[in-house]
Amino acid sequence: MTANDTALAARFALAKTLAAEAGAMALDYFNRRDTLVIETKRDLQDVVSIADRNVEIFLKERVAELYASDGFLGEEFGHQEGSSGFTWVVDPIDGTAPFVNGMPTWCVSVAIVRDGEPVVGVIHVPCSNELFAAAKGFGATLNDRTLRLDPSRTLKNAMTGIGSNSYVTPDRIGKIIASLMNKGGNFIRNGSGALMLAYVSAGRLVGYYEPYMRAWDCMAGFCLVTEAGGVTMPFPGSGPEFLEGHPVLASNASCYEELLDIHVQNA
Ligand code: IPD
Ligand code: CA
Ligand code: CA
Repeated sequence: MTANDTALAARFALAKTLAAEAGAMALDYFNRRDTLVIETKRDLQDVVSIADRNVEIFLKERVAELYASDGFLGEEFGHQEGSSGFTWVVDPIDGTAPFVNGMPTWCVSVAIVRDGEPVVGVIHVPCSNELFAAAKGFGATLNDRTLRLDPSRTLKNAMTGIGSNSYVTPDRIGKIIASLMNKGGNFIRNGSGALMLAYVSAGRLVGYYEPYMRAWDCMAGFCLVTEAGGVTMPFPGSGPEFLEGHPVLASNASCYEELLDIHVQNA
């Protein structure tokens, strides 16, 4: 193993441990969510609570204890530049809307980016006791079972995840869904884009498309899908653009071109 591989393997192990611990912490908040004060951010659909903030603080502090020179980007507290070449990219709770409304489709998403590329992706889903984990060159697993995409799954015989938020007009989302259905596909949205990307890596969804997401929503999912044998559309992993929103597309290779066509048609 090269020094690079060793540095990556050690961080991958930590990412799995931290995602599991952070998930347990978030689950404790979920089980007493009636006591949480729910605040809104950009609009009434964009919600947050102390659970999101405290889970991110936990992750940030644990990473800093062991890898003080790594960078860190989280949804709630923003970006802290590092010097090691590794940046942790964390969404403490993806799917906060399902979380506060008592639905199980939320997760903790932990990624590590190196040289602009997501090299670790770990997504923990406490309500279903599932840990999706991948690292560059190490493959992708779900609860330690190897994930490998099946090329016989297509837009027509499987489901596609579509995401939306208030950065994108309702009309545009409507056209995207119409384009997908005109190609013989069908759509699902469960309120957590990170989780739907993990579902792509496990073959539960054949692809995922959302016109505007942030790095913390998608970096872990990108690593999972790539390591399971899928394809992802490039998303900036460094520089000022890394901190902005961009379209997200990740899928089984069988339908990548068709989903790319939907993206281009509705850009
Ligand atoms: C959101 C979820 C949602 C997606 C949004 C994200 P949050 O993240 O992933 O499914 O459609 O674009 O912002 O607010 O639950 O962390
Ligand atoms: Ca998110
Ligand atoms: Ca979040």
